[in-house]
Amino acid sequence: MCRVLPLLKKNFHLVRHPLVQHKLTLLRKKTTSVTEFRALVSEVAMLMGYEVTRDLPMTTEMIVTPMERMRAPVLKGGKMVLVPILRAGMGLLDGMLQIFPSARVAHIGIYRDHKTLEPVEYYFKASKTLRGRDLILLDPMLATGNSAIAATDRLKGAHPRSIRFMCLVSAPEGVRAFQKAHPDVPIYSAAVDRKLNDHGYILPGLGDAGDRIFGTL
Ligand code: URA
Repeated sequence: MCRVLPLLKKNFHLVRHPLVQHKLTLLRKKTTSVTEFRALVSEVAMLMGYEVTRDLPMTTEMIVTPMERMRAPVLKGGKMVLVPILRAGMGLLDGMLQIFPSARVAHIGIYRDHKTLEPVEYYFKASKTLRGRDLILLDPMLATGNSAIAATDRLKGAHPRSIRFMCLVSAPEGVRAFQKAHPDVPIYSAAVDRKLNDHGYILPGLGDAGDRIFGTL
């Protein structure tokens, strides 16, 4: 499954943490229930959140401990903005909010036309202050890449300081397409699978992430 990795460009981060990999295997299993699946997606999102934000800019501020004053590190800039791509991206939101409770949330609704596999935007709601913010785009599956590319196009129009894209499973086709469209946006993924099937699903993948999160199988 990692054969394709040498082909990937530098802005791709494979999150190899053992807990992430173990939980991803549980997610892949056909027998995993909706209840378990939902909880696992949230846990993996939380664990991946550390990797995704590893290089956030820092500054320092003067604080007073019970003992003395010190200059201590803090995140630099405005509140981070999490951007789930509806609907499956919502599954990653809770876990991320656990570690970034003050993050703002912008929603982008994009569905994939089942015939053309092209993205269609049907909803966008964000605060007016995306300018200069750090954005994390969330979608469990990077399949064709079309939705993530369209969402990133839209977000770039709002002039954020940075955009990162976080997913659980990616297809080599999707990684290539995304990197071609947005070489400056890093991808964080827990796996790169074998390929897409004719319907744009990832093989071996984990099935339809939205259906498995929301129990609409
Ligand atoms: N979306 C999914 O939920 N699963 C896939 O395999 C591809 C796209």
